[in-house]
Amino acid sequence: MAIRKVARLGTPVLRQQARALAPDEIGNASVQTLIDDMIETMREYDGAGLAAPQIYESLQIVVFEVEGNPRYPEAPGIPLTVLVNPVVTPTTKEMEEDWEGCLSLPDLRGRVPRYTSVSVTAHDRDGARLTFEADDFHARVIQHECDHLDGIVYPDRMASMESLSFVREYQRYQA
Ligand code: NI
Repeated sequence: MAIRKVARLGTPVLRQQARALAPDEIGNASVQTLIDDMIETMREYDGAGLAAPQIYESLQIVVFEVEGNPRYPEAPGIPLTVLVNPVVTPTTKEMEEDWEGCLSLPDLRGRVPRYTSVSVTAHDRDGARLTFEADDFHARVIQHECDHLDGIVYPDRMASMESLSFVREYQRYQA
């Protein structure tokens, strides 16, 4: 296991379409090590989630976990989840705007509209099929992370740049 360097905005891999894994590829030692590294890196930097392109691997894998996260102190808990080749489908037309940050855009926050409810199909890290629904903050994290697999970062989804703030100013004026 290793803590990996996180790609910052401007790095081309963050703007590429990530490659889907073949089902029989998921069990490979290199993929399992990558998943372990993603989890370790996410935890080291207090991320709510991490997508493989953020550590320079253009593959369709995301991890997320929220549990007493100092970057998101008021967020409800989300158990550690690994999604391979996720497909996210909104199950409502309702969107809600809230603050997001991203380890690839350090020190920034912005308000992003997201669907309040989504349905997810994916493989887990053992290759098993996974289908579930998620709402609200959980749905937000999933949409944010899975966007990374399509080369999309949260400012692309902002209705306006007006709320874009540095964390220090966000804490001073918004929190
Ligand atoms: Ni991100």
